[in-house]
Amino acid sequence: MKPRRQQALLLWLLLSSCVLTEAIEPISTTVAAVSAATALAAFIANWKNSECCQPAWISFNMTGLQADLDKKLFGQHIASRIISNAVSGFMSKNNPNKPLVLSLHGGTGTGKNFICKLIAENIYKEGMQSNFVHMFSTTVHFPHQSHLLQYRSQLQQWIKGNITNCERSMFIFDEMDQMHPGLIDCITPYLDYHEKLDGVSYRKAIFIFLSNAGGDSIAQTALEFWKTGQSREEIKLKDLETVLSSSVFNNEQSGFFKSSLIDQSLVDFFVPLLPLEYKHVVQCAMAEMMARNMTPVKHVAEMVAKDLNYYPKQERVFSDRGCKTVESRLDYYL
Ligand SMILES: *[C@@H]1O[C@H](CO)[C@@H](O)[C@H](O)[C@H]1NC(C)=O
Ligand SMILES: *[C@@H]1O[C@H](CO)[C@@H](O)[C@H](O)[C@H]1NC(C)=O
Repeated sequence: MKPRRQQALLLWLLLSSCVLTEAIEPISTTVAAVSAATALAAFIANWKNSECCQPAWISFNMTGLQADLDKKLFGQHIASRIISNAVSGFMSKNNPNKPLVLSLHGGTGTGKNFICKLIAENIYKEGMQSNFVHMFSTTVHFPHQSHLLQYRSQLQQWIKGNITNCERSMFIFDEMDQMHPGLIDCITPYLDYHEKLDGVSYRKAIFIFLSNAGGDSIAQTALEFWKTGQSREEIKLKDLETVLSSSVFNNEQSGFFKSSLIDQSLVDFFVPLLPLEYKHVVQCAMAEMMARNMTPVKHVAEMVAKDLNYYPKQERVFSDRGCKTVESRLDYYL
């Protein structure tokens, strides 16, 4: 090949995104002879550092997820087991027959966003910063009920566009309980068992819904266990399933009210998050100190935990904001 043609070919390769990462290797060697080689090499190096929809940037670490759930998520034995099994099962399939759809339920600060972060970090090299992880928050992206139609078409375009870019995309919908019930229905077709829709396959994507809906009823069940002296770890998923169904599916404020998503059983797992106790808040504070590369100090963690409010008023069992404000309160005590 003449040098000029080589350059043209290389430029074309570079412009045609990441699809040809592997192909670039032999070519970059041949190209060394070309006068512009140095500049191109720098360009390639730079370009190689930008995230691609490729195994180098997206690969699931099963032991990593398990270890993170065990070590970093406190007081959530049910959620931890469901998440680990669901994500590992899904990611180990080369041709899943539908996307993975999870719905996480629990009060403030119980770990819903944190679980998303752990999943993202064990799939995407860039974690939550990945270009393939998309977070939608009702109050930010869909604040006005009157714009429902516009939101619906926008959301469909976003999902289609992003999955066309990368099949292994992850979509997180925060504040589902504040979402207009008519909005989420528009993504139902993508969550279904279709081979392809308009030439796009959605089967490798992950959808996660986060919601406070059901949090109160879950807390109620947890309190009953506590009152009867049963250990928290004895709470089983089935103890919470009926509670969840009544407070999520039949509740106008859950974002899922009369949703076709529910009717058609497109949600694979409903994941309940339990309210957190004093000892879990202490664990969160200790973990936060470690995350800051400090030696964790127990009495500091205890001061932070004592500073929070606990409910019910009499018994003071559960932190009303979970571990949510631990991070900022820690600054105050250090
Ligand atoms: C997977 O996670 C484990 C535990 O965090 C870590 O030791 C290991 O290096 C990770 N593997 C890869 C391939 O990143
Ligand atoms: C992907 O989703 C984001 C929102 O997270 C949106 O701004 C963007 O336009 C979408 N990309 C495509 C190609 O549709």
